[in-house]
Amino acid sequence: MTVRIAPSILTADFANLEHELGRIATADLVHVDVMDNHFVPNLTFGQRMVESLQRVSPLPLDIHLMIDDPDRWAPGYAEAGAYSVTFHAEAVADAVSLARRLRDIGARAGIAVKPGTPIEPYLELLHEFDQVLVMTVEPGFGGQSFIESTMPKLVALRAAVAATGLDIWLQVDGGITERSIAIAAEAGADTFVAGSSVFNVGEPHMQIALLRAAASAHVH
Ligand code: DX5
Ligand code: ZN
Repeated sequence: MTVRIAPSILTADFANLEHELGRIATADLVHVDVMDNHFVPNLTFGQRMVESLQRVSPLPLDIHLMIDDPDRWAPGYAEAGAYSVTFHAEAVADAVSLARRLRDIGARAGIAVKPGTPIEPYLELLHEFDQVLVMTVEPGFGGQSFIESTMPKLVALRAAVAATGLDIWLQVDGGITERSIAIAAEAGADTFVAGSSVFNVGEPHMQIALLRAAASAHVH
């Protein structure tokens, strides 16, 4: 299985994002956290920033919308050229019709669940999505600790994805380190978001290589 590393720019220097993107060029995707201070108690940026990133990023943009009313706002990010747009199950009114709209625009459609949100209701709907994001911390902030009790959701997802025969990516986000990435890969994840362990621990290229090696050793 292919391992994908998606550094989160939440922990990068917001005043020098083009430069920061250059430091993670060996990654597979750039994870972009959009927060509205309603769905989560933190605020980042919106569509205009994503449009600017889209113009300069050498890597595809993986947009993680931690916002209320994604039914209204998510299509704009797809129209801005995002490679993938992931909205939260807890915030969306009609997950399937929103995913279909995102795909019609040309983006990969993703659905995210917070640590306390069960995955069972979505296992029958997996064909409607290109990726599923299992949050491994409460969304809102970087630098938190990996919540290992979320791993059974990945095990269930991996089995359900295998049953579909489709290549649906299983993503984890929050507290990903060299140690926790191995646990998540073992449980079934193939796409790994990492913020502080890429940007706050030395050289990002080196950190990306270490995370990739640790995941590759444990992915099925
Ligand atoms: C948290 C964000 C994450 C965050 C991860 O709500 O969705 O993408 O940047 O940061 P770390 O890797 O530091 O936990
Ligand atoms: Zn995120």
